[in-house]
Amino acid sequence: MELETCTFSYCQRPEIIEVEADILLIGGGMANCGAAFEAARWATPKGLKIVMVDKAATDRSGAVAMGLSAINTYMGENDPKDYVKMVRGDLMGIIREDLVYDVGRHVDDSVHLFEEWGLPVWKRADDGHTLDGAQPAKKLTEGGKPVRSGKWQIMINGESYKVIVAEAAKKALEFNRVGTGMAQNHYERVFIVELFPDANDSNRVAAAAGFSVRENKAYIFKAKCMLLAAGGAVNCFRPRSVAEGQGRAWYPVWNSGSTYAMAAQLGAELVLMENRFVPARFKDGYGPVGAWFLFFKAKATNSLGEDYCVTHFESSKAKYGKYCSDPHKLGTAIRNHMMMCDMKLGKGPILMNTHLAMDELAKTMDAKQIKHLEAEAWEDFLDMCIGQAGVWAAMNIDPSKTPSEIMPTEPYLLGSHAGCAGIWVSGPDDIAGAPKEWNWGYNRMTTVKGLFTAGDGVGASGHKFSSGSHAEGRIAAKAMVSFCLDNKDYKPTVKKTNDELAAELYLPFEIYEKYKNYSTDTATNPYYIRPKMLQARLQKIMDEYVGGISTYYMTSKTMLDAGLKQLDLLKEDAAKMAAADLHELMRCWENYHRIWTSESHARHILFREDTRYPGYYYRGDFDFVDDENWRCFTISKWDVQNKKWIFSKRDYVQLVPD
Ligand code: FAD
Ligand code: ADX
Repeated sequence: MELETCTFSYCQRPEIIEVEADILLIGGGMANCGAAFEAARWATPKGLKIVMVDKAATDRSGAVAMGLSAINTYMGENDPKDYVKMVRGDLMGIIREDLVYDVGRHVDDSVHLFEEWGLPVWKRADDGHTLDGAQPAKKLTEGGKPVRSGKWQIMINGESYKVIVAEAAKKALEFNRVGTGMAQNHYERVFIVELFPDANDSNRVAAAAGFSVRENKAYIFKAKCMLLAAGGAVNCFRPRSVAEGQGRAWYPVWNSGSTYAMAAQLGAELVLMENRFVPARFKDGYGPVGAWFLFFKAKATNSLGEDYCVTHFESSKAKYGKYCSDPHKLGTAIRNHMMMCDMKLGKGPILMNTHLAMDELAKTMDAKQIKHLEAEAWEDFLDMCIGQAGVWAAMNIDPSKTPSEIMPTEPYLLGSHAGCAGIWVSGPDDIAGAPKEWNWGYNRMTTVKGLFTAGDGVGASGHKFSSGSHAEGRIAAKAMVSFCLDNKDYKPTVKKTNDELAAELYLPFEIYEKYKNYSTDTATNPYYIRPKMLQARLQKIMDEYVGGISTYYMTSKTMLDAGLKQLDLLKEDAAKMAAADLHELMRCWENYHRIWTSESHARHILFREDTRYPGYYYRGDFDFVDDENWRCFTISKWDVQNKKWIFSKRDYVQLVPD
C-alpha cells in the first residue's frame, strides 16, 4: 500500500514550539497531580524544571473529572499487608506485591493532604451517626473517624475533588516555574501523540511530540525523564450505549490508551495486558455501585429475587476453584461471573434493591435522619455520576421506592481500579523478599530508561483508585528527581527534525485537504476514512472477536486469530485517517493509541491459556483457572527493530503470607 505523507502542500503548517524540561509529566490526572506536587518540593531548590502537559483542562480532566463520592483506598486502622492480601484476592492471585505494599504504606498521606486542601471528608459522630462533610468535625489527622463504606473506602463530598487536587498541583507548578525562571510550564489542551528515543540510545526516552487541540501549534517537549500517566483506555470495545447515548461510557472518554500505546511503541515491557475491567454498573447511566453495596448495604438480585452470589456459588467454585472458595470474599470478577450466569439464563433484569436497603436503614432512624439518608442516596450520583441522576429523574425512579437495573458494561483497560493491565516497572528497593530483578534503580521506572509511569499506567497493581494513584505519582516523582540529579549532563537529542515531527502529526489534515473534493459527501471518500468510522470498525472487531458484550465476554484462539487478522487490515486503513479540524485530528490519534492498546490486549489474551478473570473475559477453549502453568506475569514487548511482539512468562512471587 502506498503511504501518504505530509508536505504541507494542502494543509497549513503549524507553528512549532520546542519546550525543554528536566521532568515532563504527560497527563494531568490524579497520578500526575500528585507528581507535580511532590516533584516541585525537591526539584525546585535544585533548579530542575518540571513541565505538565494535559490534553484537557487539568481542573476537570481524567477519571475524577465528574467528582467522586468515596475515596476507595484509605488504610487508617488497617495494615498495608492486609491491603496486599485483599488486592491479591480480588485480582485472582497475580499482583506485584512490592508495588501494592508501597502504595498501601504511602496512600494515607495523600488523603490527609486532600483534606488539608479543602476536600470534605465525612466523619462518624460519637453517637454513631454520619456527619457529612458540611458539618464541623475533627480532621483525620486530628483523630476524626472517617465514615467507612467498606473496609478500605471512606465517604467524601467529592463533586470538586479533582478541582481541589488540581489546584495544589497548579500551585506547585507555579512555584517551580517562578523558582526556575520558566515562561510557562503547564500546557493544557495539548495532546501527546508519540514519544521518541534518544538519537544515541534507542532504549532511552528523549522527546514527546503533540499538538494543541485549540490552536494551530505543534509541540516538541524534550526532557531528561518523563512520567507517562495518561490513564487507561476507553472505547476500544463497542459500548452498550447507542445512537443518542453513545459517548456515554463508565470510563472517562478522554483516556484513549495513550499510556500503553506510547510506552509499547518505545519498546517498554507491558504486563498482564489481558486483564481488563468490566464494572457492574447501574444500567444506561453507568452509575457506580460501590456506595450502594457497601454503604447502603443494598443487595443485588435477579428478577425472581434470588441472590446470584448464593445460587451460583457452588457451580462457580467447582469451575474456578480456590478464587471463589469463600462466599464472603468473592472478588469483583467472580461477582460479575455469577451475575452473568443469571443473565444468560434469562433471569434478568438484575436489580439493585435500593428500596429494601433504605427501608432497612430507616428502621433505626427518625424522620429527619431518613431525609438525610435520602439526600445521601441522591448525592452519591450527583457527586460522581450526574448522568445517572438524570436517568433516575427521566425514568421516574425514586431509589427509596423502586429498584434499579444493573448490568455489566463493555470492557475497559486500566491499572488502578479493579483491574491491573499496564506497564512493567521497577519497584521500591526496601521490600523484604522481593526479587532483585524487580528493582532497577528508580521506583516506577519502566524498562525504557527515563520513562516512568503511575496510576493506570502501572501494571499488576490494581485497587489504587484515586488516592493510591496520587500517592504513586508522588513516589514516581521523587525517583525522577533522583534520576535527574544522577543524569545531570544528559542532553536529549532526537533523530527527526521538528519539521518532520510536525508533518507526521498533521498528516490526517493533509490527507483530508488533498482528497475532500473527490466525493460529494466528505464523510465518505475512496481515499480516506474519518476517525468516527474507523473507531466503529475497531469497536466491532474487538466486540465480536476479543470478548466484548455481544459474545458475553467469550473468546478463544480461533476467534482471536480472526480478530487479529482484521486488526491488521484496520491498521492499514488507519494510515489513511483524515481530519477536518483540530478536534478530529485528536480523534485520529486517539484511535491510533486505541488500536495499539487493543492489539496488545488481544495478543495477551491469546498468550495466556487459561480463563484467569472469569466475569471479565472467558477463553472458551481454556475455560478454567490454571494455577500450575499460569499463575505468572505475562510480559509483552514490541521489538522496535524487527517490528514484532515478543511474549514471555515471569514468575509470580508471594511476599505477604496468606
Ligand atoms: P486519570 O486521573 O484518569 O488521568 C489521566 C490524565 O491523562 C487526564 O488528565 C487526561 O486528560 C490525560 N491524558 C490522556 N491522554 C493524554 C494524551 N495523549 N496527552 C496528554 N494528556 C492525556 N477512585 C476512588 O478513589 N473513588 C471512587 O469513587 C472512584 N470512582 C471512579 C469512577 C470512575 C467512573 C472511574 C473511571 C474511576 C474511579 N475511581 C475512583 C478511580 C480513579 O479515578 C483512578 O484510579 C485515577 O483517576 C487514576 O489516575 P491516573 O492519573 O492514572 O488517570
Ligand atoms: S467506583 O470507583 O466507580 O465508585 P465501584 O462502585 O465499583 O467503583 O466500587 C467502589 C469500591 O467498592 C471499590 O473499592 C470496590 O472494590 C468496592 N465494591 C464494589 N462493590 C462491592 C461488593 N459487592 N463487595 C465488596 N466491595 C465492593
